[in-house]
Amino acid sequence: MPLNETVLGRMVGEIVLSRHPNYREGQIVHGMLGWQEYAISDGGTNIENYGPGITVVDPDLAPISTALGIMGMPGATAYFAVTNIANPKPGEIVLVSSAAGAVGSTIGQIVKVYGCRVYGLAGSQEKVDFLTSQLGFDGALNYRASRDLATDIGRLCPDGIDIYFDLVGGEMRHAVLEHLRPFARIPLVGFISQVNDRPPSLPDPTRVLMAKRVRMEGLIVYDHVGRMDEFRSQMSHWIKTGKVRPVETIVEGFERLPRAFIEMLQGKNVGKYLVRV
Ligand SMILES: NC(=O)c1ccc[n+]([C@@H]2O[C@H](COP(=O)([O-])OP(=O)(O)OC[C@H]3O[C@@H](n4cnc5c(N)ncnc54)[C@H](OP(=O)(O)O)[C@@H]3O)[C@@H](O)[C@H]2O)c1
Repeated sequence: MPLNETVLGRMVGEIVLSRHPNYREGQIVHGMLGWQEYAISDGGTNIENYGPGITVVDPDLAPISTALGIMGMPGATAYFAVTNIANPKPGEIVLVSSAAGAVGSTIGQIVKVYGCRVYGLAGSQEKVDFLTSQLGFDGALNYRASRDLATDIGRLCPDGIDIYFDLVGGEMRHAVLEHLRPFARIPLVGFISQVNDRPPSLPDPTRVLMAKRVRMEGLIVYDHVGRMDEFRSQMSHWIKTGKVRPVETIVEGFERLPRAFIEMLQGKNVGKYLVRV
């Protein structure tokens, strides 16, 4: 992100003036338009590479705010991590890290639709309660209160883990490894615990991965843009039939943007953290 330029970020908004034949005033669109109240788009549709394009948001599919969350990039990340990499089967045991966040809360709800047992790791007791009482998780653990994460994960999932959705990386992944069942899968979705630090020196996981025939595979949501229509229609159906619900934390005011971003990194959000301008 270059200095002194508009901060990158996704927006949902209304077209107030159009000189493009494909767009008209009043339409709701979504794009990587930055932290600003008004933005100019070239009307292109390639929004995935941080370009100035936009896509039209269909308000009949779900509320428009969800185009930034469950119906947008975080929801698509969850959907493709489940359907492309994890391939869950009914009865399998799933553990989700950052489980109360935008991607994690969606993953947990989707794998429930597949008939899995789902457990979550999250950073507060409130989040743990939310996951188990509101989102249908079978159990959850406040990892910030744990002194021995590997032992506590073993208590949370005494029968082992078939799929670990890794949104966090670092020591949390290592604490999970010993509880994996043979032929487990690990969709590698993120490494938020390591973004500001040098990677901690951790034991080499190769032995466990090989001995248990674990498949670990990276996910980049933009590889799957060709399946976005399928994703949106499936997610809209799940929302409308009550199988999956959007989780959002919304605060008001343009000036709240920097604080909201920092709070997201500190774990103050539940679900997608949005700022209404
Ligand atoms: N591969 C892709 O294409 C792709 C696409 C989108 C997102 N991602 C990744 O997916 C992850 C989740 O993204 P999101 O948008 O859904 O964010 P989010 O989960 O809504 O928000 C970030 C959460 O990370 C948790 N966190 C922060 N520091 C942590 C640490 N040191 N250890 C463990 N958890 C920590 C916090 O929750 P707690 O209170 O639980 O700590 C915080 O709420 C990120 O790593 C992101 O980079 C990847």
